Amino acid sequence: MKVNHHYFEIQDSYLFATVGKKTAEYKKAHPDKDVIRLSIGDVTRPLAPAVIEAMHRAVDDMSRKETFHGYGPDQTCYGYGALIESIKGSYAKKGVFLETEEVFISDGAKSDLGNILELFAEDTVALIPDPVYPAYVDANVMSGRKVIYQDANEGNGFLPMPDESVHADLIYLCSPNNPTGAAYSKEQLKAWVEYAKRHDAVILYDAAYEYFIRDESLARSIYQVEGAKECAVEICSYSKTAGFTGVRCGYTIVPQALVRDGHSLNKMWARRQSTKFNGVSYITQMGAAVVFSEEGEKQIGENLNYYRNNAKIIADCMDRLGIWYTGGKHSPYIWFKCPGGMDSWTFFDLLLENANVVGTPGSGFGKNGEGYFRLTAFGTEENTREACRRLEAFLSSMK
Ligand code: MLT
Repeated sequence: MKVNHHYFEIQDSYLFATVGKKTAEYKKAHPDKDVIRLSIGDVTRPLAPAVIEAMHRAVDDMSRKETFHGYGPDQTCYGYGALIESIKGSYAKKGVFLETEEVFISDGAKSDLGNILELFAEDTVALIPDPVYPAYVDANVMSGRKVIYQDANEGNGFLPMPDESVHADLIYLCSPNNPTGAAYSKEQLKAWVEYAKRHDAVILYDAAYEYFIRDESLARSIYQVEGAKECAVEICSYSKTAGFTGVRCGYTIVPQALVRDGHSLNKMWARRQSTKFNGVSYITQMGAAVVFSEEGEKQIGENLNYYRNNAKIIADCMDRLGIWYTGGKHSPYIWFKCPGGMDSWTFFDLLLENANVVGTPGSGFGKNGEGYFRLTAFGTEENTREACRRLEAFLSSMK
């Protein structure tokens, strides 16, 4: 019998697994070193008190036969009403109105960004910006799909715009972007929506970082662009918004107006989910359901400000060093040019060995990432300051 040979067309190990392995090897060889990790975008602030209280109440519910919950409601693919209503409320504040049936609760953005591909024929072509969050590329290659790339670079501010001469069926967009931190304006997204409609394509819009946006002209949802419900799926997560990386909860919006090849993608996704997914735990959903409450938003806002302050600490450090960078403003990522024209992995090794700081090599996000490096603002403030101090000391010693 044969295995899926497309698995051999991707790197042996996932980018963050490679970074983790290299870090672990270094730590093993130098157990006395205090290594600071600013690589994977993993949060460090505890969950908001309102979330914890809601989860405690949900645990108590599970202890009494009157309030115990088994499987979630199947008519909404196991999403509880309180959570779905809170998500609809959060969209309404952005001027986007959703039907209950359009909101699908997930265990976070990453799974659905790959799983959604099941709705499309294998010969559909995916257009993916480069550099990019590696999970998009890997999921497409694993499924045997053809991937074409759209160059993101300093010239276009790492925000590529549609090229009419290129045809694609699926378009991945992430804004604010991982890894570059660049964010599309509503005007720019309008051009993508128009392109998708002309090409009968579907945009897979990753909005995992939208809560970092503070400028009204930037899009917080692709549905803020007129007509986007006819051509886009939006995939969101509580991971970065509310510190749920270890809890796991997200939501995917598949509009009822999204029809391709004469079929409702909303109905197809509901069918897929009811067969292959049993929902997110009641306790998790109850915690997530208070994130967008008045109290929840205030508390997650404090955590987001904490990370924004870390981003500013890193950006100020780049300014002092005279290093070109983008991101950090509407995003928890700072994307900068490796000093002295170094390639990304060389800089990774040097930084680890000389400053004991771990970041993510830009080339791990695609060929256009070569020569760049990403630091996350999701660390503690103390570690962020110390990492910047070491980075400055190391780079000064190189001059
Ligand atoms: C990243 O560091 O790029 C993200 O944390 C990865 C993810 O969200 O899976």
